[in-house]
Amino acid sequence: MKCIEISDRKLILTERPIPKPKSGEVLVKVYAAGVNRPDILQRNGLYPPPEGVTDIPGLEISGEIAERGRNVEGLRNGQQVCALVSGGGYAEYCIVPARQCLPLPKGLDFITAAGIPETFFTVWTNLFDRGLLKKGETVLVHGGASGIGTAAIQIAAAIGAKVFVTAGTDEKCKACRKLGAGLAVNYKTHDFLDEALKATRDKGVDVVLDMMGGEYLPRNLKALGTGGRHVSIAIQHGRMAELDILQVMQKRLIVTGSTLRPRSVEEKGAIADALKKNIWPLLNRKNALLALFCKKRITPVIDKVFPLTEAQAAHDYLDSGVHIGKVILRVM
Ligand SMILES: NC(=O)c1ccc[n+]([C@@H]2O[C@H](COP(=O)([O-])OP(=O)(O)OC[C@H]3O[C@@H](n4cnc5c(N)ncnc54)[C@H](OP(=O)(O)O)[C@@H]3O)[C@@H](O)[C@H]2O)c1
Repeated sequence: MKCIEISDRKLILTERPIPKPKSGEVLVKVYAAGVNRPDILQRNGLYPPPEGVTDIPGLEISGEIAERGRNVEGLRNGQQVCALVSGGGYAEYCIVPARQCLPLPKGLDFITAAGIPETFFTVWTNLFDRGLLKKGETVLVHGGASGIGTAAIQIAAAIGAKVFVTAGTDEKCKACRKLGAGLAVNYKTHDFLDEALKATRDKGVDVVLDMMGGEYLPRNLKALGTGGRHVSIAIQHGRMAELDILQVMQKRLIVTGSTLRPRSVEEKGAIADALKKNIWPLLNRKNALLALFCKKRITPVIDKVFPLTEAQAAHDYLDSGVHIGKVILRVM
């Protein structure tokens, strides 16, 4: 099969044997694969695959089941799926734990569906399992125009939360508002802390979904109200930060976070179940009534599609930071 390999911090096209699914796994013929910032970290040697996982990059795919290993129930050959994987997505065939497969949402094409798993799994588990976000609460999402951010805005808005975001340009802020953000702050021209406090009449927000770290932490904690939850998912501005312990005590804050990739198949399967139940009906484009009348409809935002052979150009584009939403590789 054709696949992409990392060599000297660059992505190169190569050929490898088609892998065989083991017990509990399926082999998926890949139609499209999502590109995520963690793939860039992996290419640069900063995010190695967990033990036993292929070194081929790619954390999410869409395609058709080509073969099933033993002990796979509820999936059939030829079934169209999208799936979260721990690696191996940038290839014509990919091994997937069956628990991490989800049916292709009705009416969605393979390109759009390939942009769902990594961001939606991450957003779901961090907003709800860790951040305990509830209807009527307010969440501040940094990097609102990112793949993660565009999913977070729509998912949080769909459950009835108020969403504030930050982004680096007015154009990105506009796109975030269109997706459902009530407040979008261009952090290059405005102070997000001032804006968040102004918008909540000094009450503060309930949850911060943070992909910055570093000097953002103390400002995020100030933006949180009593009982607030701070959820870290990345450290683009640094892993070390100053934490005001007294503030945590006085406001009874929770400071938490998570990484998705090293979690067990069972844990990822539980997130898949929650997404299927709560989010899949909102992605369904075939439900005409829902599409017409339901403001809660969720549409993954696809910025640009590259062929698999141009995976390096896709990384360079994502790295440039101009995108809004997801970058996708067309494999078939
Ligand atoms: N913990 C987990 O399980 C998990 C899972 C998936 C992804 N992640 C992390 O979540 C973040 C978003 O992922 P993604 O795939 O959605 O990436 P992405 O689309 O490339 O988004 C990154 C965003 O960060 C903003 N940014 C601010 N400072 C930056 C900097 N110094 N370098 C690059 N970008 C910067 C950019 O927006 P502006 O131009 O508006 O500043 C950009 O939209 C990444 O850091 C990724 O590693 C974590």
